Amino acid sequence: MKITKAVIPAAGFGTRFLPATKAVPKEMLPIIDKPTIQYIAEEAIRAGITDMLIITSRGKDAIVNHFDKAFELEAILERDGKEELLKAVREVSDRLDVHFIRQREQKGLGHAVLCAKSFIGSEPFAVMLGDDVVDSDEPCIGQLMNEFDKCGSTVLGVQKVGAEHVSKYGIVDCERVDGKLYKVNGMVEKPKPEDAPSDIAVLGRYVLTPGIFKCLEKTPRGAGGEIQLTDGIVMLGETEDIYAYDFDGRRYDIGSKQGFLQATVDFALKRGDLKSEFAEYICKTADKIRG
Ligand code: G1P
Repeated sequence: MKITKAVIPAAGFGTRFLPATKAVPKEMLPIIDKPTIQYIAEEAIRAGITDMLIITSRGKDAIVNHFDKAFELEAILERDGKEELLKAVREVSDRLDVHFIRQREQKGLGHAVLCAKSFIGSEPFAVMLGDDVVDSDEPCIGQLMNEFDKCGSTVLGVQKVGAEHVSKYGIVDCERVDGKLYKVNGMVEKPKPEDAPSDIAVLGRYVLTPGIFKCLEKTPRGAGGEIQLTDGIVMLGETEDIYAYDFDGRRYDIGSKQGFLQATVDFALKRGDLKSEFAEYICKTADKIRG
C-alpha cells in the first residue's frame, strides 16, 4: 500500500531553547532562513508524501500561519516582481496538504502519535520528528518507505551512535537481515549504557502500520512518566514484524544547541549564495581559535 500521509509531532515546549521558545514555537526557529519544520516538510514532499498532519499544542499558532496562504504578502511580492521570494513563500503550501490537530495534554510521543488515529485510519504512515533533520541525497523517510514496499511491515530509521549517547534514544535489539536492514527483537527507551541492547538508535523517522494505534491505546506510561512510542512499537512487535533500516544521510540533532549550530554551519556551506564568503569567515575563525 502506498504511503501518502506523514505525522509530525510538534507539541513539545522546547525548553532546551528557552528563552527563544517562550513566544516562538521551537519548530519555527530558523536554520538560516527556513524554519526547521520546513526542512521536514520538504523531505516529506521529496518522498512523495501528499498529506502531513502536524500535532500541535497551545502557543503553536505560528506553525499554522506558516503553512497557510499569505495573501497580502504574496500580492505585494507579485506586484513588485519578487519572483524568487514569492516562490520561497509558496514553496511548501502549494505542494503539500497540511493538517493540524492539538494534543491537549502533554503525555508523551506515543500519545502524540495516537492523536493521529482518525486522520490515518487504516493505512500505513510515516512519522517524522522535528528535532531530527537529515541531510541526504535520497530523502530519509523515502528510504524507509522503499523498505516498507519490500517487507510490508513497520520500519524504523536507525543509525549507530556512540555508547555515551545511547541514553538519549530508543535503542533496538536487532539482528542483521540483509545489508542495511535489521529485524528488531526488542527496543528500550533511553537505557543506561550498561542496559542498552546495542548502540543502534532510532533517529526520528518511522514507517508504522496502523496496528500501532491499538497498541498505543494500551501502552502505560513508561520512561520519564510518558506514553512512549517505543513501548507501543514493542507491543506491536508481539503480533507483527518490526524492521530497522540503517539509513544513508547525515542526521542533526537540532533539539540540542550543538546540533543546531552544526546544521546551520553545514547548510550555509552548501548554499551557493552564502558559501564562499561564509567559508572564508569560518577559515579565518578557525585560524584564530588555533592561535
Ligand atoms: C524520541 C524518541 C526516541 C528517539 C528520539 C530520536 O525521543 O522517544 O526513541 O530515539 O526521539 O530523536 P526524544 O528526543 O523526543 O526525547
